[in-house]
Amino acid sequence: MSKALESLIYPKSKDEFFLSYESNSPFVVHELKDSISDLTKLPFLKSLEDLVHMWPQKVDVHLPKVSDEASAVQASTGDAIKMFENGMGLLFNDANLISPLLNQWLKDLKQDMGLSAMTYARNLIYATKAGKGTAAHFDQNMNFVIQIHGTKKWWIADNKNVENPMTRHTMGLPMDDELTGYAMAPMPTKMPDDATEITLKPGSMLFVPRGSWHSTEAVTDALSLNFTFSAPTWIDVFTAALRSRLSLSPEWRQTADFVSDQQRHPVAVEKFNMLLTELSFEAADWKAEDILSVTESTPQ
Ligand SMILES: [Fe+2]
Repeated sequence: MSKALESLIYPKSKDEFFLSYESNSPFVVHELKDSISDLTKLPFLKSLEDLVHMWPQKVDVHLPKVSDEASAVQASTGDAIKMFENGMGLLFNDANLISPLLNQWLKDLKQDMGLSAMTYARNLIYATKAGKGTAAHFDQNMNFVIQIHGTKKWWIADNKNVENPMTRHTMGLPMDDELTGYAMAPMPTKMPDDATEITLKPGSMLFVPRGSWHSTEAVTDALSLNFTFSAPTWIDVFTAALRSRLSLSPEWRQTADFVSDQQRHPVAVEKFNMLLTELSFEAADWKAEDILSVTESTPQ
């Protein structure tokens, strides 16, 4: 076990954190200093100017009208800084790709959280102009947000429309087809009245639970570092294992021929039913341990 999670929640305990995590509640600590000093000392986090100078690629710029990540363009660092001065938010994506230290933290946090080897982990750095923020939305991923510079307000509320969403959704925008299938419509058009307000200052850490509604507004120009984890659901774990098992079978690897051919459709149905029947016999003996021993041994 590493000290990464402990460092982000200091002086609270892991038990306290996991209790909050299991109830899908936000978790916040303030005034982190020594425990995260190797992060706050990273040269590219010294200031937005330093970040822009050291950033090797394009930056995602969030357009002003819909102040949401759903509406972004990519810009050179030179253009991005001008757009920031005009009030647009900047996202420096996959910052771990330029920092072995961030990569190590991601790996350690993933392990401390007990997340699957199939988890997609990355760092995002957000620069937000004073008075600007993000429109209310929820994410399918979970986030540790560390405030590096400036003050930013967050509003977080329970999501009563959908538990465990598998995609992001912004209030006021259309839902994707899959989400429409399992979410309770209509979605709210403003943050729920019972939203919790949390003010983050340099050294604050906020854990944003997967699927909870949130919106933000920077009080002063602000820079924050996110550790973002897209962990697989049981659906993902099972379908990955299922695919790898079925791929061993030449019959399952056959092209799904004639499924849309009216005349030969019955033959296609018969063949598919045969495969399903065989699978259902085999699946009766499947054990979670056996599946996990495969998915969790996958080198990442
Ligand atoms: Fe978000």
